[in-house]
Amino acid sequence: MLACSAEHRSVCTVSAIAFLSLSFTLFSTTSAACSNGNCQVLEACSAATDCGTGLYCGNCPALGKTQPFCVRGQATIPTSIVNGLPFNKYTWVVTHNSFSIVDAPPLPGVQRLTFYNQEDTVTNQLRNGVRGLMLDMYDFDNDIWLCHSFRGQCFNFTAFQPAINTLKEVEAFLNDNPTEIVTIIIEDYVHTPKGLTMLFTNAGLDKYWFPVSKMPTKGEDWPTVTQMVQDNHRLLVFTSVASKEAEEGVAYQWKYMVENEAGDPGVVKGSCPNRKESKRLNSRSASLFFQNYFPTYPVQSDACKEHSNPLAAMVGTCYKAAGNLMPNFVAVNFYMRSDGGGVFDVVDRMNGPTLCGCSTVTACQAGAPFGSCKNVTVPNTSPVTNTAGSFTGSVQFSSSASTEANIDSDLERTRVYQEVIQVRGIA
Ligand SMILES: *[C@@H]1O[C@H](CO)[C@@H](O)[C@H](O)[C@H]1NC(C)=O
Ligand SMILES: *[C@@H]1O[C@H](CO)[C@@H](O)[C@H](O)[C@H]1NC(C)=O
Repeated sequence: MLACSAEHRSVCTVSAIAFLSLSFTLFSTTSAACSNGNCQVLEACSAATDCGTGLYCGNCPALGKTQPFCVRGQATIPTSIVNGLPFNKYTWVVTHNSFSIVDAPPLPGVQRLTFYNQEDTVTNQLRNGVRGLMLDMYDFDNDIWLCHSFRGQCFNFTAFQPAINTLKEVEAFLNDNPTEIVTIIIEDYVHTPKGLTMLFTNAGLDKYWFPVSKMPTKGEDWPTVTQMVQDNHRLLVFTSVASKEAEEGVAYQWKYMVENEAGDPGVVKGSCPNRKESKRLNSRSASLFFQNYFPTYPVQSDACKEHSNPLAAMVGTCYKAAGNLMPNFVAVNFYMRSDGGGVFDVVDRMNGPTLCGCSTVTACQAGAPFGSCKNVTVPNTSPVTNTAGSFTGSVQFSSSASTEANIDSDLERTRVYQEVIQVRGIA
């Protein structure tokens, strides 16, 4: 691994690109005689209890891997290995439409007609190391709801639940984990004056609020994570509506971050165009870089394939498109699904070069000079998820997981998708 310095990040280019474009190597697991929590990533398993900490027993039929093997289900928390750097040096796992959860109960007497993007609760997502939530908020039923849209509005058949319920989950998590930092990206359709202010205050989240006045606007470094924790500024909230910044002190997303296109344009191999609202990815005018990586139509069974080599390759593409800048956020559907290491391994590989000059953050050594790396051999050593701090999230999927659960026919599904996509551009 090339040593490279934080001040001259371009020196890291070669190594970062080399690593991100590496294929995940598949290790032979023929002699896997493991059970009772001893099985490592990619080793054969027959029950979740066979696999080690942070792993679950899954498969990936979309890649022809039908026999169950241990799959990562938890992130490495990078600050638990390299602490104290500016916030914009780190990369975090983000769930796209975090609230749109398979098996979420529909409203009484209503058949939900929409799509799903995740499979476990927001509390569980946070416990598994997700640190960014994408939430779509609407005025609905005299309150603010998390909802998919249909002609720009929330309906009872696209609604999930009042936003305060989910925000209270975030509050409980920040309260229980006093060194963790969470980012919320709001796709904002709330028109109620001071609606967001009231919502976040009522959820008890105002005490964690990172003030807009302290956010860098010219591409400078953010405060360090240590400073943010000390100040209890551990919640970053961004809105898609520019006027909310002056009106309510909610940061206008594209003033502080660049972002690639969401949906299908964000998963086209070899290309990473910026989203219309965002400045060019290489403009260096914003300090944060948000990478969308999810297809327009979320399909559970395809996610494990998407979260294998194509994701790693796309991170490399976006890194280059941004003039050798590592994304700080990687947003995906069905974040736990992969053919082994998935989103979690990719994010480890993103944090390694920027935080310590090593190929993966798990090779970083606290306090060691930049570029001084531990000898990590994957996957024979203990699973990397053992370093994931004290989080004990479950990695079980909901049992009746099925993207199309509540949509009657292909025709109906296509119609709903088309209308939703047409109105919104992207879900
Ligand atoms: C759901 O909303 C529709 C109109 O969008 C309405 O006709 C229907 O009564 C509502 N159903 C329930 C159970 O509230
Ligand atoms: C790193 O691990 C490899 C494979 O186990 C081994 O051959 C090598 O000697 C190790 N290097 C160091 C510096 O420990």
